[in-house]
Amino acid sequence: MASLTVRQLDETLKQQLRLRAARSGRSVEDEVRNILKAAAEDSDALAPMAKAAPGAGPVPAPAGKRVLLIVGGGIAAYKSLDLIRRLKERGFTVRCILTAAATQFITPLAAGALTGERVFTDLFDPASEFDVGHIRLARDTDLVVVAPATADLMAKMAGGHANDLATAVLLATTAKILLAPAMNPQMWANKATQRNLAQLTADGVTLIGPNAGEMAESGERGIGRMAEPMEIAGAVDRLLAAKGERPLAGKRVLVTSGPTHEPIDPVRYIANRSSGKQGHAIALAAVRAGAEVTLISGPVTLPDPPGVRMIKVESARDMLRAAEQALPVDVAIFAAAVADWRVANAGDQKIKKKAGETTPELSLVENPDILSTVAHRTDQRPKLVIGFAAETENVAANAKAKLARKGCDWIVANDVSPQTGIMGGDSNTVQLVTADGIEAWPPQSKDEVAGMLIARIAAAMNAT
Ligand code: C5P
Repeated sequence: MASLTVRQLDETLKQQLRLRAARSGRSVEDEVRNILKAAAEDSDALAPMAKAAPGAGPVPAPAGKRVLLIVGGGIAAYKSLDLIRRLKERGFTVRCILTAAATQFITPLAAGALTGERVFTDLFDPASEFDVGHIRLARDTDLVVVAPATADLMAKMAGGHANDLATAVLLATTAKILLAPAMNPQMWANKATQRNLAQLTADGVTLIGPNAGEMAESGERGIGRMAEPMEIAGAVDRLLAAKGERPLAGKRVLVTSGPTHEPIDPVRYIANRSSGKQGHAIALAAVRAGAEVTLISGPVTLPDPPGVRMIKVESARDMLRAAEQALPVDVAIFAAAVADWRVANAGDQKIKKKAGETTPELSLVENPDILSTVAHRTDQRPKLVIGFAAETENVAANAKAKLARKGCDWIVANDVSPQTGIMGGDSNTVQLVTADGIEAWPPQSKDEVAGMLIARIAAAMNAT
């Protein structure tokens, strides 16, 4: 392996490296290692083997957008750490400012570890003023998110105060501002807070939440809970996406995926060979299209797709319960291979094998049909209900019959006879069955099928 000596580099380059190193708080050697690592990870030529699969990796942020997150001092600050993760998995670059009060709840170290950038706390810190300065912090961003936005921060913003780094940046920025308020219900309802809120809304600030629910103080309920990190990340996505970049922005999508496990006793179960690859790919494609996605998955060995609200279940009955709880949604896609039957009386204890005794008999009962139950609902029926049909013969004819029987709007039908290798494999050949007819799609990867399906869904949803 060739070795590289920084001393041998030309003076201008060395000067630039020293400056970069000082800014990021690394030694010059570490900075060079960092640059090389980033270049190697970026370059297909350098890392052909490590090239990510099309469906892998974070959801791309709209054209690499930057978010400046200001964390106020409230108990909800702990959720801001999760918000950083949610923004990063959507591909945003995140910089973070903690108010003095916020550092009582979370540390700059934790926020820095998650953003991968230094965290700013002090208006009068000579190092950060040399590094970026509050005016650059205010300008070098596409959106400022304040989460949690405390009553005090909102009051200062409404009054145009600038006596610390967070408020100075908020006053200096020309970027859009998104507030996620969090406070006690009485503080939220107080006339002063409502006055400040009206002023901020008139000033063009966007609001997400607060939600109703339990407060941190025991026994307190009401409006004042900070919106969940997933909701805030979704709002950020909507604010920053250009028209057409997120065709499912603002839409709620439910996806079921994977097999179900139906218990025989506490250690044994009935299952099928579904890998969950197609359902998980659809969930990720929906997130990339800007949707708020709930993915209900049976037991699979796949990683959770970034940006989804993940609900893990075992049996068909658990999956049905989770699906009904996830309503209302705009679109529901039932890609799970739900077991048709479960054992009538699953034992609480492991069934023992005893010498000389006859083998136990399993009697089966039918599982609820999740797709059909949701499609036939009279309230909260999603606008578009999509089922899958895994067939081994007469694929199109069976799928058409299933469309009518299950009451869904579309069926994605595929031939899963063993010679196709579809079950558990990476590619899929499907036919889309709608009331208008049958479309045969070309053989393609499950990621591509997911992308095509989501594009069709977006077109249908935006046409209505
Ligand atoms: O009847 P069949 O299992 O072929 O139907 C497949 C479709 O129905 C898939 O979309 C699957 O997710 C859904 N399904 C369901 N609940 C069941 C059985 C199937 O949601 N119990």
